[in-house]
Amino acid sequence: MQSYDVVVIGAGAAGMMCAIEAGKRGRSVLVLDHAAKPGEKIRISGGGRCNFTNIHTSPKNFLSGNPHFCISALSRYTQRDFIALVERHGIAYHEKTLGQLFCDGSARQIIDMLVSEIQDRGAELAVSTEVRDVSRTAEGFTLSLSSGTVACQSLVVACGGKSIPKMGATGFGYELATQFGLAVVETRPALVPLTFDARTLERLAPLAGNAVDAEVGCGKTRFSEAMLFTHRGLSGPSILQISSYWREGDEIRIAMLPGMDVAELLRAARRVNGRQAVQTVLANHLPKRLAQAVAERTGIDGNLADLTDVQMKNVDAAVNDWRIKPAGSEGYRTAEVTLGGVDTNGLDQKTMQAKSVPGLFFIGEVVDVTGWLGGYNFQWAWSSGWVAGQAV
Ligand code: FDA
Repeated sequence: MQSYDVVVIGAGAAGMMCAIEAGKRGRSVLVLDHAAKPGEKIRISGGGRCNFTNIHTSPKNFLSGNPHFCISALSRYTQRDFIALVERHGIAYHEKTLGQLFCDGSARQIIDMLVSEIQDRGAELAVSTEVRDVSRTAEGFTLSLSSGTVACQSLVVACGGKSIPKMGATGFGYELATQFGLAVVETRPALVPLTFDARTLERLAPLAGNAVDAEVGCGKTRFSEAMLFTHRGLSGPSILQISSYWREGDEIRIAMLPGMDVAELLRAARRVNGRQAVQTVLANHLPKRLAQAVAERTGIDGNLADLTDVQMKNVDAAVNDWRIKPAGSEGYRTAEVTLGGVDTNGLDQKTMQAKSVPGLFFIGEVVDVTGWLGGYNFQWAWSSGWVAGQAV
């Protein structure tokens, strides 16, 4: 039986970072994955360019049952550390928007960088390898794999969340946590488009393809980014962001011209030309079909000269205080991440080690720490992988 100091299950962002760091410390490391290639989610991330971190990363960009849990890892291995690694490998990058850093070339460069670092540190990478069983021994753990049996002192669970099952996401990490007596916070799809009931969709579907810069809120949380009408409902960055905070039964509030007083806009337009239609004025600021839909929804068919103050306020509300109740989300099929996961109460925030099972570590998305859209989830994978790499 082959024996290692460290076995990492999952050659994704977190697992590879952990393997590199453990290798640097002279630990013998096996990182294994059931997929045929490492880092498949990195490959498809950021539209193929990988939004690998965010220069503004701070603990407030994360959701967790314990919002303080991520502070230690994020401060020990920061976005600047990962940027330095990217620069050492000569990978060109740019800031797209809101601090989001993307490769100029391809996400493949990030995978190549990680794989070459793994090789330089002498760690082994085994793909197309299934884990059939994991058991605890006096010395550590024994894993029954499709390729044989291996033993290790430290076992790192880095198998990610449930999103995109088509790419091999399994929820196996949660099963392992449960097997070893750790609590798992209920999981749900996050950073995911929202869907609507048939009646609402009838109204929304003709708008599919239109996009606006919107402010979308749920409860006390708000995001100002693009919003996209789709055939199934609403999507785009602002909707994906709010989906992490939305729960069934909640309404979301949307401002499609945030910061603009639409009633005043209509009054000003009336002073210039009272014979214009409402939708004509709105179409100067919104896509034409959307402007038309707003006018129809408020039931106004006269021109500006005929509008009462109340009607102007109604138009303002239809544009900037649109309240709508999503029926659900597109689910794990398209969700970028999984909310919830291994309960942070059971983990040491400095090492990611299970408090009740010495030698067992959980890192990356499988843990109940979920970032906003914009490179934060990879930064959590790098940071949590790095701290575990110092401790295994
Ligand atoms: P990750 O999912 O990367 O890796 C887990 C690994 O474990 C996989 O290789 C999987 O095959 C393996 N595995 C699973 N079960 C196993 C089992 N039973 N046995 C063996 N191996 C197993 N984030 C971001 O910050 N910027 C971005 O641009 C994007 N873009 C993006 C696009 C899309 C389409 C998605 C779906 C997601 C993103 N994300 C993102 C989120 C980001 O991809 C995610 O948060 C990280 O990949 C999480 O890293 P992990 O290493 O924890 O899991």
